[in-house]
Amino acid sequence: MVIDSPPKVSTSREIRLTAAQAVRENRLWQRHVAMARIGAIPGNGVNRQCLTHEDIRARALLISWAKARGYRVTVDDIANLFIRRAGLDDSAPPIVTGSHMDTQPAGGRFDGIYGVLAGLEALEALDDQGLQTQRPIEVVAWTNEEGSRFSPGAMGSAVFTGARLLEDCLPVTDLEGIRFESALHQTLNATPSLERVPFRRRLGAYIEAHIEQGPELEAKGLPVGIVTGIQGSRWFLVKVEGESAHAGTTSLRARKDAVRSAVNIISALQDMMHDGDDQVRFTVGRFDVTPNSPNTVAEEVMFSIDFRHPDAAVLETKAQRISEISKRFAGPCKATVVETFNRAPSAFGADIVGRLEQAAQDLDIGYQTMASGAFHDANFLSEVCPTAMLFVPCERGISHNPAENAKPEDLAAGTRVLTAALIDLAGTV
Ligand code: GLV
Ligand code: MN
Ligand code: MN
Repeated sequence: MVIDSPPKVSTSREIRLTAAQAVRENRLWQRHVAMARIGAIPGNGVNRQCLTHEDIRARALLISWAKARGYRVTVDDIANLFIRRAGLDDSAPPIVTGSHMDTQPAGGRFDGIYGVLAGLEALEALDDQGLQTQRPIEVVAWTNEEGSRFSPGAMGSAVFTGARLLEDCLPVTDLEGIRFESALHQTLNATPSLERVPFRRRLGAYIEAHIEQGPELEAKGLPVGIVTGIQGSRWFLVKVEGESAHAGTTSLRARKDAVRSAVNIISALQDMMHDGDDQVRFTVGRFDVTPNSPNTVAEEVMFSIDFRHPDAAVLETKAQRISEISKRFAGPCKATVVETFNRAPSAFGADIVGRLEQAAQDLDIGYQTMASGAFHDANFLSEVCPTAMLFVPCERGISHNPAENAKPEDLAAGTRVLTAALIDLAGTV
């Protein structure tokens, strides 16, 4: 479904330019530097996984910046955090921007946090120019976009939009057995004075800024990508059950070796996923062995599958074969497949994409339109309000890696386009 009915308000080109030009590159960069200290890991990276102490500290820092500017800060029951700059018509559905603050275990300094800090910078730019908008503008930090600690990802935006139930997320555990529910309570308890807001509030529009996480923009020397849609993603967990046995005394023929079966399954899946045009994305990123001992034949393997493609039909056809192939190549072991995440490809509306393009043209900032290979919270938002995204380049396209890097001037250029589009959607007349 594509929703494309942006608010009927307007803002003159001159005002849009004034707002965008008030974006301060250094302020934005220093905020990235401050956030990158929270959960810093060797190699310039960040480990600030969802609902950890580091996530709680990052939230506190963001809240302190927002409160210093007098913005209202609210939270919902899954700890999505909202920073609101009031509109002249404050009862109108807000124009929302943002992303996430959680990172991968060995993540970088820009994935997610850029969208949140770009949103805050946009609000401050409007304040610095004394510009009031008709509609309120909110910056959101969605909970658990990454899905690396509590799987699957994008829980906050999925629950906010009604695509998932909070109750279904609460029992999910991390690798240490900690429940999402208990980490969530700890996070919410850290900010007891924040007003609670409901899920499924009406939103006027949503724009998410993000690093590209791919190499195209850098290769073309373009500071901005305007995203027209997101490819579909399906996640699975495969459990392979064998029997533990002594590595020195049990013949290969007599074994039910879960690792051997899992490797055969993965190899067969890789063959099935192979496509001539190299569009399929197929990743086994987690491989847990029990009992994980060098001299014991493995009793059990759990591995993850992350499978993505821009074409819904290809996603469906190939996903359907995963279970059958896993069973067929399990040998003497037993394979069970559970699907944990399923997002169809999203297409953003032409009007809101057009507004971002207009903003880039007005500001004379080079851009191209493009699709997103990564999934984002925008995926879920696109089901409830006009939604679009904008990308800025990152060095060599590296992401989900401590080496992730982006240039201050590109981060600022993206934020200028974002600011102009936000004020356009929020209206000044
Ligand atoms: C989001 O982090 C993704 O994996 O696309
Ligand atoms: Mn991200
Ligand atoms: Mn990510």
